Amino acid sequence: MTNTNEAANAFINQDIISVTQFNTQNLEYIFKRAHQMRELVERDGASDLLKGKVLACLFYEPSTRTSASFIAAMARLGGRIIPITQGVQFSSVSKGESLADTIRTLEQYSDVVVLRHPETGSAQQAADAANIPVINAGDGTGEHPTQALLDLFTIYEELGTLDNLKIAMVGDLRYGRTVHSLTKLLTLYNVSLRFVSPETLRMPLTIMNEVIDAKLEVRETHDIADVIENADVLYVTRVQKERFSDMKQYEEVKGYYEITPEIMKQAKSKMIVLHPLPRVGEIHYDVDSDPRAAYFRQVKNGMYVRMALLAAVLGK
Ligand code: NCD
Repeated sequence: MTNTNEAANAFINQDIISVTQFNTQNLEYIFKRAHQMRELVERDGASDLLKGKVLACLFYEPSTRTSASFIAAMARLGGRIIPITQGVQFSSVSKGESLADTIRTLEQYSDVVVLRHPETGSAQQAADAANIPVINAGDGTGEHPTQALLDLFTIYEELGTLDNLKIAMVGDLRYGRTVHSLTKLLTLYNVSLRFVSPETLRMPLTIMNEVIDAKLEVRETHDIADVIENADVLYVTRVQKERFSDMKQYEEVKGYYEITPEIMKQAKSKMIVLHPLPRVGEIHYDVDSDPRAAYFRQVKNGMYVRMALLAAVLGK
């Protein structure tokens, strides 16, 4: 009981900027609540837990799932939303207003802000300017903590454990913020990691060092064949075209990997394929009907995890 209270208190009025804020006890608390949110939605569709609360959703970069799932999460808990998503170009941001001023304005209307921004460190800047909780929905190539939470929650819900798993991450490990956050979060668990990427898109050294410091077993390769037979989780990512300054370099690596039904034949019968989405060719559409293809279930889990987080930071 005390532990649950402690974990709950750890979230009240807190910013969610980086996965380094979490410990296994906090994570367990969020996953338990996310599971309850699933039950709530399946049973009643919605509740009025966050009635009277307002979420400002500020997206300076394209998003489908992250923005929609935050909006859906707030709606299903009875709260309201100020969406500044597709319309950033029509807001004062396009007149040159600073991020701090935009945030300090939005907090006059709302109880919590969700921010996606192309610059690494922007979420922390926003949090420094705000008196209400700021949730990082992706800051450049930096972090995407709520995605990592839903990724981990999905692994737990699908496989029933987070321990002794072999987790392979495939694709753009250099610019992909989801794999950066997920890897950091996994250093809290006893897992074995495989990083599969072209040479130019390897996992950054800083994150490799964190994995090594955490004493996790880790190997790098550029060949899916090296990992497919033993993987419990295959986490596939898109090459992040928008982060390349040299389009020639992008052309060389785009289409480097494609998970096909042929490749899936070599995988364990009880493994899962995850992808933060959007996919642009890394997973063949024919894989979708494979029960191990868990990426759309992962999408739904995003809403439950964000419901749990919104409730937690608002102290409900
Ligand atoms: C990811 C992102 O924005 O970092 N998408 C998402 O949030 N589901 C992954 C990506 O864009 O490749």
